[in-house]
Amino acid sequence: MSLIRGRFQKEAHQAVARYTASLPFDRRLFHYDILGSIAHAKMLARQGIITAKDGRAIVKGLKAIEEEIEAGQFRPKTESEDIHMAIESRLSEMIGPSGGRLHTARSRNDQVALDTRLFVKDAIIQINLAVDKLQVVLVRLADQNQRVVLPGYTHLQRAQPVSLAHYLLAYFEMLQRDFERFEDCFKRTDVMPLGSGALAGVAYPIDRAYVAKQLGFSRISRNSLDAVADRDFVIEFESAASVCMMHLSRLAMELVLWSSSEFGFIEMDDSYAHGSSIMPQKKNPDVAELARGKVGRVYGHLMALMTTMKGLPLAYNSDMQEDKEGLFDTVDTLLATLEIFAGMVETIKFKPERMALTLDKGYLLATDIADYLVGKGVAFRSAHEIVGKLVNWAAENDKSFAEISLSQYRQFSKLFDDDVYLVTVDRSMAARNNPGGTAPEQIRAALEHAKQLLSIDTEKK
Ligand code: ARG
Repeated sequence: MSLIRGRFQKEAHQAVARYTASLPFDRRLFHYDILGSIAHAKMLARQGIITAKDGRAIVKGLKAIEEEIEAGQFRPKTESEDIHMAIESRLSEMIGPSGGRLHTARSRNDQVALDTRLFVKDAIIQINLAVDKLQVVLVRLADQNQRVVLPGYTHLQRAQPVSLAHYLLAYFEMLQRDFERFEDCFKRTDVMPLGSGALAGVAYPIDRAYVAKQLGFSRISRNSLDAVADRDFVIEFESAASVCMMHLSRLAMELVLWSSSEFGFIEMDDSYAHGSSIMPQKKNPDVAELARGKVGRVYGHLMALMTTMKGLPLAYNSDMQEDKEGLFDTVDTLLATLEIFAGMVETIKFKPERMALTLDKGYLLATDIADYLVGKGVAFRSAHEIVGKLVNWAAENDKSFAEISLSQYRQFSKLFDDDVYLVTVDRSMAARNNPGGTAPEQIRAALEHAKQLLSIDTEKK
């Protein structure tokens, strides 16, 4: 008979046991479960709620179980519903009746809340390390490619020239916000729920602050009902993960486009691309495509948990057991994507010549030519119209701005002069010299800022 069926006369139906069990997936929490139980047992002994001898036996037993699990030698009892019951049963089997004292002043409801919080805290630390790593790669590439120019797009139409560094640093910024979002989520995850009991608190003289300190939490929860019923921190985490995956999928899309023959701005390293089973000429950017595809499941987990939590009355409800698989998959998917991106982006071969080719015929300097007329006193709206007509004519006659003669320019406005040929890509970029712009000076400042944030030692470079 299982540990918790005192009031039952029959075992649960096999199908029920299978349906309700979480052990197949929540085994993954074992390390946190044992950490939490050790802290709890020490506190119980310290407070005289159990004897020091029982406390020592429990801690020793838990450590031995952890080793068993790590060595792959742990065979949980089949009737164990979840990792909490599995560890507790093994403990009693191992150390005898003292094992039955571990669960004093505790419920699985506050226990699972604790384990999940410990798990999410660790996940955030790992994820932010991986975000940081990808940011370092982007900053390094930006540093090396300050002088490389490519067309910036709006509506996927060539718009204005920008530095490749500026482009890469845009992704750095997105990742910086992700980093901060995770840090912020960490603060609300860093709250110790143990001591809430099943829902109303516990009737023993426990020391919650001690447990929090042992486990590295900076706060304890203030309301026991809320503490066992709250999964906001998981939702927040999955939401931050969704935004981060969305950013990665945008970068992925960029790389897929750029590696097409139509763009030809980059070539993926062979080690980050696959061939086609039928078309020998192909080099597919599978990693980027899959990252773009995997966003779906991460959004899915967020929606699933939001839906699961909707309308649940206080306090704990079994529905909440459904939080775990989505959470684990979110962590795995995001971590794997961040890690593989660092390698993939680092090995990209940029093709500045191809980027330069697209600058010419795209009339990317049209805004600058309009600005030129504004400099001669024309109102911007009129300048916009004049240059619009000019571009129309140039496109029909297959001429770039540099190929238009001065007399042809003058057909559109008498104010055009020889100095119109001074409007170049370099000057266009240099002119955008306000904070946040693509001018070399601004990019240097942005790089400096990024390096400071990442604590990259500029001296060493
Ligand atoms: N396996 C459960 C979960 O993951 C642990 C808490 C169960 N509590 C309970 N009263 N059934 O949420």
